[in-house]
Amino acid sequence: MGAAFPRARTHPSESTFLVNKKQSAVILGAQWGDEGKGKIVDVLSEKFDIVARYAGGHNAGHTVIIGGKKFVLQLIPCGVLRPGCKGVIGNGVVLDPLAFLNEVKKLKEAGLPAYRPEEGQLFVSNRAQVILPYHRMIELAAETAPGRQTIGTTRRGIGPAYEDKIHRNGLRVADLLNSSLLRTHINNACHEKNTIAHALFGTEPLDPHQMYEEYARFAEQVAPFVTDTAVLLNKAIDDGQNVMFEGAQGALLDIDHGTYPFVTSSSSTAGGAVTGTGVGPTRIGTVIGVTKAYVTRVGEGPFPTEISDASGDLLRARGQEYGAVTGRPRRCGWLDLPLLRYSNMINSTEWLVVTKMDVLDECDEIPVCTHYKIDGKLTDVIPADVRGFKSIHPVYTTLPGWKSSTAGITDFDKLPKAAQDYLHFIERETNARIGMISTGPDRAETMLVNGFDEALG
Ligand code: IMP
Repeated sequence: MGAAFPRARTHPSESTFLVNKKQSAVILGAQWGDEGKGKIVDVLSEKFDIVARYAGGHNAGHTVIIGGKKFVLQLIPCGVLRPGCKGVIGNGVVLDPLAFLNEVKKLKEAGLPAYRPEEGQLFVSNRAQVILPYHRMIELAAETAPGRQTIGTTRRGIGPAYEDKIHRNGLRVADLLNSSLLRTHINNACHEKNTIAHALFGTEPLDPHQMYEEYARFAEQVAPFVTDTAVLLNKAIDDGQNVMFEGAQGALLDIDHGTYPFVTSSSSTAGGAVTGTGVGPTRIGTVIGVTKAYVTRVGEGPFPTEISDASGDLLRARGQEYGAVTGRPRRCGWLDLPLLRYSNMINSTEWLVVTKMDVLDECDEIPVCTHYKIDGKLTDVIPADVRGFKSIHPVYTTLPGWKSSTAGITDFDKLPKAAQDYLHFIERETNARIGMISTGPDRAETMLVNGFDEALG
């Protein structure tokens, strides 16, 4: 750990770290999700008192392997797999009560005490929005309706739940706990949604009475976890505790900054940590972006460096690139530096974590996209429209592969020279320091470099 990692320049954030050693941090996916954040949050959580999710819902799938045992968490922040680390589901999240309770049950069965509400280790914001069955119904119908643009969503009702939030028509967790309000809300919403879904898609109506009975039961079980998490988090920071803000999905799936409309419906970028938890920006010390050593994407949408030959199959097979939530095969591509630079810019990313280095072990050579060529002009600015994306011609620099196993290496100096050069190249080209490198799925298969360990306190 803490291996020397020579770097080309002094980073402006260096002095900040020397002054303020312990600080809160946002950790997020720097690409289109599935960068391996789960494991990274888990590894880093020993440095944090609280891990808070700020966006998305159970569309996320964070896989953590501890001692060979696999945990897939969708709503509950991965950090709480560490005893003593608290978990918060912030107001920016859309909460499916059944998915939440199932996850709590699964973890309890695995013998993890953190999931007993009486232990005070897991908290749900009273301001989080609730996903109800009609959200799923509408999404399913809309995604498969003829003539509609398919996004390739996870079909969890995420988009329709955020639509209701913005439409000021949603149900918040605080209101889920109020039974008369819950009944009225479900009655009114079912009337409206059933009518719309039937008219647009011919969908069979949902029964509001049955829905109320079910959700009133869920409400009782969710209630012990519910609190004002903005107060909890701000007080914790006042008391000198360290909070990690855990992103879901990835920066390029952000509703504003991502490859719209092929995005999720929440603010997955660093700004979402502020609105999604109620902690102001000056209280967040640093931003850590997690990037794979290559790129993947699930669902529809532009993907300039997507590989269509056998190399893509090799990456998919070696990286086990199948969705943690839906099981869909992920599209695979070479590292896209314009995309990563853009992600670093919109998130103010100071540190990068590079995951899945070992997946590249068998490549003879590794193309890396350094720029885009659009209409004959070289650029690294990402177009805003899908048409613009379609006219991108990626410009590659090809680096030599290392053709030897990096699996499980935890010392930077023991990495093959070509793998070290690959990492230096990424760092030089993206203006962020690499603080951590992952060489396998287990917690232990990780190395911290560049003083990252000390910087986080
Ligand atoms: P939604 O979030 O279910 O609305 O899906 C919108 C888009 O985001 C689709 O392309 C999904 O495949 C993608 N997406 C949502 N969650 C994740 C994730 O955790 N990893 C990767 N892609 C995701």
